Amino acid sequence: MLILGLNMFHADASAAIVQDGEVDFAIAEERLNRVKHYAGFPALAVKACLDAVGARITDVDHVAVGQDSDANLAKKVQYALANPAKILNFIRLRQRKEAMRDVRSLLAKAFDVDPTEFGFREHHLEHHIAHIASAYYCSPWERAAGFSYDGSGDFVSTIRALCEGNEIKVLERIFLPHSLGSFYTMICEFIGYKKYGDEGKVMGLAPYGKDTYCEQVREIIQLNDSAFRLDLSYFMSLGSNQGMQIQADGTVRLARHFSDRMVHFFGEPREPHAEITQRDMDLAYAMQHRFEEVFFHLLQQLHQRVPVEDLVMAGGCALNSVANGKLFHQTPFRRTWIQPAAGDEGLAIGAALHTYHSTLQQPRRYQMKHSYLGPEFSDSRIEAELKQANVSYRKLDREPLLDVVAEQIAGGNVVGWFQGRMEWGPRALGNRSIVAHPGLPDMKDVLNSRIKHREWFRPFAPSILVERQSEYFEYDYPSPFMLHVYKIRPEKRAQLCAVNHVDDTGRLQTVSREENPLYYDLIRAFERRTGIPVILNTSFNENEPIVCTPGEAIDCFKRTRMDVLAIGSYLALKTEN
Ligand SMILES: [Fe+2]
Repeated sequence: MLILGLNMFHADASAAIVQDGEVDFAIAEERLNRVKHYAGFPALAVKACLDAVGARITDVDHVAVGQDSDANLAKKVQYALANPAKILNFIRLRQRKEAMRDVRSLLAKAFDVDPTEFGFREHHLEHHIAHIASAYYCSPWERAAGFSYDGSGDFVSTIRALCEGNEIKVLERIFLPHSLGSFYTMICEFIGYKKYGDEGKVMGLAPYGKDTYCEQVREIIQLNDSAFRLDLSYFMSLGSNQGMQIQADGTVRLARHFSDRMVHFFGEPREPHAEITQRDMDLAYAMQHRFEEVFFHLLQQLHQRVPVEDLVMAGGCALNSVANGKLFHQTPFRRTWIQPAAGDEGLAIGAALHTYHSTLQQPRRYQMKHSYLGPEFSDSRIEAELKQANVSYRKLDREPLLDVVAEQIAGGNVVGWFQGRMEWGPRALGNRSIVAHPGLPDMKDVLNSRIKHREWFRPFAPSILVERQSEYFEYDYPSPFMLHVYKIRPEKRAQLCAVNHVDDTGRLQTVSREENPLYYDLIRAFERRTGIPVILNTSFNENEPIVCTPGEAIDCFKRTRMDVLAIGSYLALKTEN
């Protein structure tokens, strides 16, 4: 049975193919059309999914979309009636969504097929249920607490749920305009981070701030017995021209979210590229601090209703790895399974697996043990691309390749590491990565000046052999998808100085041999030379979506001051090119 999952006309449009309950392939459209956070119809992603399993669109049995514009309609109508000025806007939005719901026409056009040839049934699943499904049905658990939170989806910002057997039972929805994601985005915008997806950057800025505004920021989002409420006077009103907007070309734009009240209390907003002041850092600090307080409050309430140790989680806010790393100390939950594509691309997997398990009542067997669900390329294709790009290279067997690359990293060189299937989700986890020495004091500056050009305050991440985690970090719950930040042990901070953030933390990826044998063995080879079972890992790109094809990797190698490219079985050195 073939189920095609889709996230479409929403940021991070994507497709996933589930065959007899197994996720065989999944990819975000941005990796193929190279438009970051692309929010149109994921036609290339659908084609890639079908090619991966050797199927035609007419072979698909079910199409599942992680969006249901009929969900929570009563709440939407209620809000529109209470805010008459917004009614026209709501009607317009709804008409647009109706046009986009016509999955059959969209697929027929993309594949040049007569819709009468389709044999699939169509399913629409509410946004946050799809998020929770993307975590629960990939987890090893038969019973867990489910939590999804983001800016908004189908008029909801948060769902808390009981996940049991094949079912996800919604315990509670938090409706717009009350949204922890909106709170975070609004303050990010105020301090000059105005692009969709900038929130992760500001999370890195937060520890540079001090507790200047925590009390005041608590006013903006207040806790109560059921959940939280925003003080809406700090926000542009919902249904006005505020928040995330999808442009006709599929790009995502954020319009002003904060009201004049923010300016009244905190002064003029920072413009992008202006100098970052102490005020901006202190606001970032207060925002992250309050975010964590509200998050832990919501989880504690959830645990009262679902008193288990296992938590499954997704939604864009679940990428807040700082908060994730602290939840074990701040809540009764002891284990997490967080979807690596916690943002909206994950909806494609969630909708497909929910159709399989809940709608069709098929048994659970699948567990997502790694995130390498994207395309891979043969050595012959890679070699052809190297030749075409006029790059000098040599071919090496597995062990010599690992030795040479480990030697290069140990010597302080920066290596592009392109191997196997591309990662699913926003993190590079050792298949489309740039790797470097984690213990050289100038490595962060070297990477930024030569390749990444990132903001000075953003940390780089460590990949560590999973069994060595507790030697280096103060918490030993594994983080295979780089979704937890933990303190680095004091005695190891110098050894990891290039990945040790200003608050002595690291957003680690734990690597097991089972999940990624080649990457694991590369870290081992590096350890043999340096005594450090850790390498610095950052995504293989330069201000663009992460590279997907060999051609994109080779282009990035040539264009930047990367020293070495290890791509499939081939090694290219900048000094020889
Ligand atoms: Fe979402």
